[in-house]
This record gives sequence, structure tokens and C-alpha cells, in this order.
Amino acid sequence: MKYLITGGAGFIGSNLAEKLKKDGHDVVIIDNLTTGRKKNLPLDVEFYEADILDIEKIRPFFSGVDGVFHLAAIPRVPLSIQDPVKTSNVNIMGTVNVFKCAIDEGIKRIVFASSSSIYGGQKVLPLQEDMLPNPLSPYGLQKLVGEQIAKMFSDLYKIQIVCLRYFNVYGPKIDFDSDYSLVIGKFLRLKSQGKPLTIFGDGNQSRAFCFIEDVVDANIRAMQSDKIKGGEVFNIGQKKSHSVNFLAKLIGGEVQYLPPRIGDPMHTQADTTKAESVLGWSPKTDFETGVNITKNWFEKNYGK
Ligand code: UD1
Repeated sequence: MKYLITGGAGFIGSNLAEKLKKDGHDVVIIDNLTTGRKKNLPLDVEFYEADILDIEKIRPFFSGVDGVFHLAAIPRVPLSIQDPVKTSNVNIMGTVNVFKCAIDEGIKRIVFASSSSIYGGQKVLPLQEDMLPNPLSPYGLQKLVGEQIAKMFSDLYKIQIVCLRYFNVYGPKIDFDSDYSLVIGKFLRLKSQGKPLTIFGDGNQSRAFCFIEDVVDANIRAMQSDKIKGGEVFNIGQKKSHSVNFLAKLIGGEVQYLPPRIGDPMHTQADTTKAESVLGWSPKTDFETGVNITKNWFEKNYGK
């Protein structure tokens, strides 16, 4: 099969590309290299530097493709609060462009990277797909709009757009070098720089951190399953959540407590019953093992 990955030079996209290549598929990647890196790319993929906001430029890359993984986005909660215009453009309009190109080429399925941030503030845990969304940030809202477009386009056009709500994905190739890097990448960098690990709030907030290999597996199942309809949504996360304090202990070193971050839900926890029963998916890597693998990867490539 031939698959197109938007955002394929990024953390999740490049890990997915590697696995698809290993499984013998052809892979085409488009990425504008804002957060993606060329060095993440596996060998033997077709790579094109292109922005999903430029619909005419990306259109030709959809030709002859069997399925699309749409991962290109500005996936940063704090940045979306600072710049709701730019992030809405990329995360909403860019998504419409990708969906439209796939529809025009008659592609059967898109797997769309959605987010647990759609849930926002909820009174009840674990988080279930049919709960009323309550995003706390423009990023969460942008992903919710993406899901609704996915549902509508699946109903209107001959395409199936499946949405995976990722919960804090981590693992080798995670971003670590910007202020917006996800907490595990940021902690590894701070430790290697001999700086204290910055904990926002009291550190008791917890996340259903999910290891990259499990997320890649979910993507492939969502692309290949014959049991799903367009517009469907699946939680892809851990049932058990872990606190930022616990993560800091696993990484090791000094910590520094800072004021809480706005737009930050206190806890997440994924109910994955639907992914288990429909996709046959459940997370295989426990948190301690996954953090160790990520730590070893970081230290090998960038030092302790
Ligand atoms: C969010 C989304 C997730 C999305 C991801 C993309 C939620 C629940 N999750 O993750 O779906 O895919 O953004 O960017 O909205 N923290 C510290 N110190 C730091 C950095 C972070 O204490 O230096 C804390 C944060 O306050 C937060 C936790 O670590 O409580 C995780 O933060 P982060 O890694 O940035 O991801 P989320 O914002 O949870």
C-alpha cells in the first residue's frame, strides 16, 4: 500500500513512517519542517517540504495514495493560547485542505490526529468518547472542530475519516528543545543542562501518558480495520495516569515549583474500551518502561 503522512517529519509521524516502511509499504511525507526535522525521516520515504495551508502545492502528493494519516498541526496548548489565529489557521483550515485533497483523489480513508484536550475540564474520569467536550484551550477547540469536519465530510462525501484522540504521547524522537516541548522531552533537556525540572502547580496533576509504539499501532489498526465507519472517534491513551511529580522522580534531579499553567486540566485518564473492542487495541508499554526507553534514547543521542 502507499500511504501519505502529513507532518511525517514530526515526532509521531516519523515513528509511524518507520513502522510502515518496515511493514513493506510505500510512504510519502509532506511537512513544512516548523517542528518536524529532516533527520527524523526514515530512509526510502518520498519527502516533500510543503505547508498544508497551500492547497495547490500539496494536492499532487495525494495522487495514487491508498490512505492518509493527517498529523500535521501546531500541537501546542500554550502556543494556541498566545496565538489563536495562526494555530486555528493551521489546525482547522490546514485540516480542511488535507481532507479536501483526499476527497478529490477518491482516497478511502484518513486517520486524523485528534487530542484528549478536547475533553478539557470534566467532572468524571475516565474520559469516554461520548462525553460532552469542554476544551480549555484554542488547541482543544481546534481539534474538536477538526473532528466535527471529519464527521461531516464522512457523511457528505465518499470518504471515511477516523479520529484518534491521543493522550500525551511520548517516546524516542519526542521534541525537547523548545519552551513548548511536551513535559517528558522538556524534563530530559533540563536535566541534561543541569537545570531543575520546572513543575507547574503542585505537580499532582496527572496524565494518561501513552508510549509512541502504542500510538503507531493504533494508527495502523485504524487505517486497516474493516469494522469502522467514517467520523468515528477513539481514545488512545493509558487507563492509568501518572503525576508530573512521579515523572520528575523517574527522570531524577532537582525540581522547581512554578505557578500553575492556564488551560491545564488537572487529570486525564483514558477509557479505551471502544479501541479495545473495535480496533483490538490496548496499550502495551507501561509508563516506567516507556520513560526508561525515552531516557536511554535521549542520553545516547544528546547526553545525560
Ligand atoms: C496537551 C494535550 C494533549 C496534546 C498535547 C499537545 C491535554 C490534557 N493534553 O498535553 O492532548 O496532544 O497537549 O501538545 O490537554 N508541565 C510541567 N512542567 C513543564 C511542562 C509541563 O509541570 O515544564 C505539566 C503541565 O502543566 C501539564 C503536564 O505537565 O500538567 C503535561 O503538559 P504537556 O506535556 O505540555 O502536555 P499537555 O498540555 O497535557
